[in-house]
Amino acid sequence: MRIAVLGTGEVGRRLATAFAGLGHQVGLGSRTADNAEAVKWAEEHPGAAHGTFADVTEDAEVVVNATGGLVSLAALTAAGADGLRGKVVVDVSNPLDFSEGFPPKVVTFDGLSLAERIQAEFPGARVVKTLNTMTNTVMVEPGRVPGDHVVFVGGDDEAAKAVVTGLLGGLGWPAARIVDLGDLTSARATEQLMPLWLRLYGALGTGDFNFAVCVSGRS
Ligand SMILES: NC(=O)c1ccc[n+]([C@@H]2O[C@H](COP(=O)([O-])OP(=O)(O)OC[C@H]3O[C@@H](n4cnc5c(N)ncnc54)[C@H](OP(=O)(O)O)[C@@H]3O)[C@@H](O)[C@H]2O)c1
Repeated sequence: MRIAVLGTGEVGRRLATAFAGLGHQVGLGSRTADNAEAVKWAEEHPGAAHGTFADVTEDAEVVVNATGGLVSLAALTAAGADGLRGKVVVDVSNPLDFSEGFPPKVVTFDGLSLAERIQAEFPGARVVKTLNTMTNTVMVEPGRVPGDHVVFVGGDDEAAKAVVTGLLGGLGWPAARIVDLGDLTSARATEQLMPLWLRLYGALGTGDFNFAVCVSGRS
Protein backbone atom coordinates (compact mmCIF):
# COMPACT_ATOMS: atom_id res chain seq x y z
CA MET A 1 0.00 0.00 0.00
CA ARG A 2 1.00 3.62 -0.30
CA ILE A 3 1.42 4.79 3.30
CA ALA A 4 2.15 8.31 4.51
CA VAL A 5 3.58 8.43 8.00
CA LEU A 6 3.17 11.90 9.50
CA GLY A 7 5.76 12.38 12.20
CA THR A 8 9.53 12.18 12.26
CA GLY A 9 9.78 11.26 15.94
CA GLU A 10 10.63 7.82 17.28
CA VAL A 11 7.14 6.47 16.59
CA GLY A 12 6.88 7.78 13.04
CA ARG A 13 10.32 6.48 12.09
CA ARG A 14 9.67 3.11 13.75
CA LEU A 15 6.39 2.58 11.90
CA ALA A 16 7.76 3.94 8.61
CA THR A 17 10.70 1.52 8.84
CA ALA A 18 8.44 -1.42 9.62
CA PHE A 19 6.02 -0.66 6.79
CA ALA A 20 8.85 -0.09 4.29
CA GLY A 21 10.38 -3.40 5.37
CA LEU A 22 7.09 -5.11 4.59
CA GLY A 23 7.19 -3.78 1.03
CA HIS A 24 4.80 -0.86 1.42
CA GLN A 25 5.53 2.36 -0.42
CA VAL A 26 6.20 4.76 2.45
CA GLY A 27 6.54 8.53 2.65
CA LEU A 28 7.73 10.12 5.90
CA GLY A 29 6.16 13.52 6.51
CA SER A 30 7.33 16.55 8.39
CA ARG A 31 6.46 20.25 8.70
CA THR A 32 9.30 21.05 6.33
CA ALA A 33 10.55 19.36 3.19
CA ASP A 34 14.15 19.28 4.43
CA ASN A 35 13.68 17.83 7.91
CA ALA A 36 17.03 16.22 8.81
CA GLU A 37 15.48 13.10 10.39
CA ALA A 38 13.27 12.52 7.35
CA VAL A 39 16.10 13.08 4.89
CA LYS A 40 18.33 10.65 6.78
CA TRP A 41 15.54 8.08 7.06
CA ALA A 42 14.75 8.24 3.34
CA GLU A 43 18.46 7.86 2.49
CA GLU A 44 18.56 4.70 4.59
CA HIS A 45 15.44 3.29 2.91
CA PRO A 46 15.85 3.20 -0.86
CA GLY A 47 12.53 3.62 -2.62
CA ALA A 48 10.99 5.47 0.31
CA ALA A 49 10.11 9.15 0.15
CA HIS A 50 10.01 12.13 2.46
CA GLY A 51 8.45 15.56 2.25
CA THR A 52 6.04 17.91 3.90
CA PHE A 53 2.90 16.53 5.55
CA ALA A 54 0.99 17.56 2.41
CA ASP A 55 3.57 16.11 0.00
CA VAL A 56 3.47 12.62 1.44
CA THR A 57 -0.29 12.62 2.04
CA GLU A 58 -1.20 13.52 -1.53
CA ASP A 59 -0.79 10.09 -3.14
CA ALA A 60 -1.17 7.94 -0.04
CA GLU A 61 -3.93 5.39 0.53
CA VAL A 62 -3.30 5.26 4.27
CA VAL A 63 -2.12 8.14 6.46
CA VAL A 64 -0.61 7.41 9.87
CA ASN A 65 -0.81 10.21 12.43
CA ALA A 66 2.34 9.84 14.53
CA THR A 67 2.63 13.45 15.62
CA GLY A 68 2.40 14.87 19.12
CA GLY A 69 -1.21 14.71 20.27
CA LEU A 70 -1.44 18.41 21.03
CA VAL A 71 -0.17 19.34 17.55
CA SER A 72 -1.93 16.61 15.56
CA LEU A 73 -4.72 18.90 14.37
CA ALA A 74 -2.11 21.36 13.12
CA ALA A 75 -0.16 18.59 11.38
CA LEU A 76 -3.27 17.17 9.73
CA THR A 77 -4.40 20.66 8.72
CA ALA A 78 -1.03 21.05 7.03
CA ALA A 79 -1.56 17.68 5.34
CA GLY A 80 -4.79 19.17 4.03
CA ALA A 81 -8.46 18.21 4.20
CA ASP A 82 -8.49 17.50 0.47
CA GLY A 83 -5.49 15.19 0.76
CA LEU A 84 -7.10 13.29 3.64
CA ARG A 85 -10.52 12.87 2.04
CA GLY A 86 -11.50 9.21 1.63
CA LYS A 87 -8.27 7.98 3.21
CA VAL A 88 -7.77 5.70 6.15
CA VAL A 89 -6.17 7.77 8.91
CA VAL A 90 -4.48 5.57 11.49
CA ASP A 91 -4.25 7.61 14.66
CA VAL A 92 -1.55 6.32 17.02
CA SER A 93 -1.13 9.59 18.92
CA ASN A 94 -1.86 10.42 22.55
CA PRO A 95 -3.00 13.90 23.65
CA LEU A 96 -0.50 14.32 26.47
CA ASP A 97 0.18 17.72 28.04
CA PHE A 98 3.65 17.85 29.60
CA SER A 99 3.45 21.60 30.31
CA GLU A 100 3.25 21.01 34.07
CA GLY A 101 5.86 18.27 34.09
CA PHE A 102 5.57 14.53 34.66
CA PRO A 103 3.24 12.72 34.69
CA PRO A 104 1.52 14.50 31.81
CA LYS A 105 -2.21 15.18 31.75
CA VAL A 106 -4.37 13.45 29.16
CA VAL A 107 -6.20 16.23 27.34
CA THR A 108 -9.80 15.86 26.18
CA PHE A 109 -11.60 18.06 23.71
CA ASP A 110 -14.96 19.04 25.25
CA GLY A 111 -15.30 15.44 26.37
CA LEU A 112 -14.14 13.99 23.07
CA SER A 113 -11.02 11.98 22.46
CA LEU A 114 -8.37 13.33 20.13
CA ALA A 115 -9.34 10.73 17.53
CA GLU A 116 -12.96 11.95 17.57
CA ARG A 117 -11.74 15.55 17.39
CA ILE A 118 -9.67 14.65 14.32
CA GLN A 119 -12.68 12.89 12.77
CA ALA A 120 -14.87 15.95 13.42
CA GLU A 121 -12.30 18.29 11.92
CA PHE A 122 -11.76 16.09 8.85
CA PRO A 123 -15.11 14.41 8.16
CA GLY A 124 -13.86 13.05 4.85
CA ALA A 125 -11.12 11.03 6.57
CA ARG A 126 -11.74 7.50 7.86
CA VAL A 127 -10.12 7.64 11.28
CA VAL A 128 -9.09 4.47 13.10
CA LYS A 129 -7.49 4.64 16.55
CA THR A 130 -4.95 1.94 17.28
CA LEU A 131 -1.48 1.16 18.67
CA ASN A 132 -1.48 4.13 21.07
CA THR A 133 -1.60 1.88 24.16
CA MET A 134 1.93 0.46 23.86
CA THR A 135 5.46 1.61 23.28
CA ASN A 136 6.66 1.90 19.68
CA THR A 137 8.97 -1.12 19.75
CA VAL A 138 6.06 -3.35 20.73
CA MET A 139 3.86 -1.84 18.00
CA VAL A 140 6.07 -3.32 15.29
CA GLU A 141 7.33 -6.40 17.11
CA PRO A 142 4.62 -7.77 19.39
CA GLY A 143 6.67 -10.93 19.96
CA ARG A 144 9.12 -9.02 22.13
CA VAL A 145 6.50 -9.18 24.91
CA PRO A 146 5.40 -12.69 25.97
CA GLY A 147 1.77 -13.66 26.36
CA ASP A 148 -1.49 -13.01 24.57
CA HIS A 149 -1.38 -9.24 24.90
CA VAL A 150 -3.58 -7.19 22.61
CA VAL A 151 -3.87 -4.21 20.33
CA PHE A 152 -7.13 -2.25 20.31
CA VAL A 153 -8.82 -0.78 17.24
CA GLY A 154 -11.73 1.62 17.15
CA GLY A 155 -13.37 3.55 14.36
CA ASP A 156 -16.65 4.39 12.67
CA ASP A 157 -15.77 2.95 9.24
CA GLU A 158 -15.75 -0.86 9.17
CA ALA A 159 -13.87 -1.05 5.87
CA ALA A 160 -11.19 1.28 7.23
CA LYS A 161 -10.84 -0.91 10.31
CA ALA A 162 -10.42 -3.92 8.03
CA VAL A 163 -7.56 -2.16 6.24
CA VAL A 164 -5.93 -1.35 9.57
CA THR A 165 -6.43 -4.91 10.82
CA GLY A 166 -4.60 -6.10 7.72
CA LEU A 167 -1.72 -3.72 8.38
CA LEU A 168 -1.54 -4.86 12.01
CA GLY A 169 -1.41 -8.46 10.83
CA GLY A 170 1.58 -7.54 8.70
CA LEU A 171 3.29 -6.11 11.78
CA GLY A 172 2.86 -9.48 13.50
CA TRP A 173 -0.43 -9.09 15.39
CA PRO A 174 -2.47 -12.32 15.22
CA ALA A 175 -6.15 -11.70 14.41
CA ALA A 176 -7.20 -13.11 17.78
CA ARG A 177 -5.20 -10.42 19.54
CA ILE A 178 -6.65 -7.50 17.60
CA VAL A 179 -9.55 -6.33 19.76
CA ASP A 180 -12.19 -4.29 17.97
CA LEU A 181 -13.69 -1.96 20.57
CA GLY A 182 -16.34 -0.61 18.22
CA ASP A 183 -16.78 2.96 17.08
CA LEU A 184 -14.43 5.87 17.51
CA THR A 185 -15.84 6.84 20.91
CA SER A 186 -13.74 3.89 22.14
CA ALA A 187 -10.71 6.16 21.74
CA ARG A 188 -11.90 7.95 24.90
CA ALA A 189 -11.04 4.75 26.74
CA THR A 190 -7.78 3.90 25.01
CA GLU A 191 -6.40 7.43 25.27
CA GLN A 192 -7.32 7.39 28.96
CA LEU A 193 -5.19 4.27 29.46
CA MET A 194 -2.16 6.54 29.39
CA PRO A 195 -2.07 7.34 33.13
CA LEU A 196 -2.09 3.58 33.84
CA TRP A 197 0.53 2.92 31.15
CA LEU A 198 2.80 5.61 32.60
CA ARG A 199 2.36 4.23 36.14
CA LEU A 200 3.28 0.74 34.92
CA TYR A 201 6.29 2.14 33.08
CA GLY A 202 7.50 3.67 36.35
CA ALA A 203 6.77 0.55 38.38
CA LEU A 204 8.26 -1.94 35.92
CA GLY A 205 11.20 0.19 34.79
CA THR A 206 10.62 -0.73 31.15
CA GLY A 207 8.24 0.08 28.32
CA ASP A 208 8.41 -3.48 27.03
CA PHE A 209 5.02 -4.56 28.36
CA ASN A 210 1.47 -4.55 27.12
CA PHE A 211 -2.12 -5.09 28.16
CA ALA A 212 -3.83 -8.48 27.89
CA VAL A 213 -7.56 -9.19 28.11
CA CYS A 214 -8.44 -12.59 29.58
CA VAL A 215 -12.01 -13.81 29.15
CA SER A 216 -13.56 -16.62 31.16
CA GLY A 217 -14.24 -19.70 29.04
CA ARG A 218 -12.05 -18.60 26.15
CA SER A 219 -8.52 -19.79 25.54
N1 LIG B 1 6.84 7.06 22.23
C1 LIG B 1 6.07 6.00 22.07
O1 LIG B 1 6.54 4.86 22.08
C2 LIG B 1 4.60 6.21 21.83
C3 LIG B 1 3.73 5.13 21.99
C4 LIG B 1 2.36 5.30 21.69
C5 LIG B 1 1.92 6.53 21.21
N2 LIG B 1 2.81 7.57 21.09
C6 LIG B 1 2.33 8.84 20.52
O2 LIG B 1 2.87 8.91 19.19
C7 LIG B 1 2.98 10.28 18.81
C8 LIG B 1 4.37 10.53 18.27
O3 LIG B 1 5.31 10.46 19.30
P1 LIG B 1 6.87 10.76 19.02
O4 LIG B 1 7.53 10.82 20.33
O5 LIG B 1 7.38 9.84 17.98
O6 LIG B 1 6.88 12.16 18.31
P2 LIG B 1 6.58 13.65 18.82
O7 LIG B 1 7.84 14.27 19.26
O8 LIG B 1 5.45 13.63 19.80
O9 LIG B 1 6.05 14.33 17.47
C9 LIG B 1 6.93 14.54 16.42
C10 LIG B 1 6.23 15.13 15.24
O10 LIG B 1 5.38 16.21 15.64
C11 LIG B 1 5.55 17.27 14.69
N3 LIG B 1 5.26 18.57 15.28
C12 LIG B 1 5.86 19.15 16.34
N4 LIG B 1 5.33 20.37 16.57
C13 LIG B 1 4.41 20.57 15.60
C14 LIG B 1 3.51 21.63 15.31
N5 LIG B 1 3.48 22.77 16.05
N6 LIG B 1 2.68 21.51 14.25
C15 LIG B 1 2.69 20.36 13.51
N7 LIG B 1 3.51 19.32 13.74
C16 LIG B 1 4.36 19.41 14.79
C17 LIG B 1 7.01 17.18 14.32
O11 LIG B 1 7.18 17.81 13.07
P3 LIG B 1 8.66 17.93 12.39
O12 LIG B 1 8.86 16.60 11.73
O13 LIG B 1 8.48 19.04 11.45
O14 LIG B 1 9.64 18.19 13.49
C18 LIG B 1 7.23 15.68 14.26
O15 LIG B 1 6.95 15.18 12.98
C19 LIG B 1 2.63 11.09 20.05
O16 LIG B 1 1.28 11.51 19.96
C20 LIG B 1 2.80 10.10 21.19
O17 LIG B 1 2.00 10.42 22.30
C21 LIG B 1 4.11 7.44 21.40
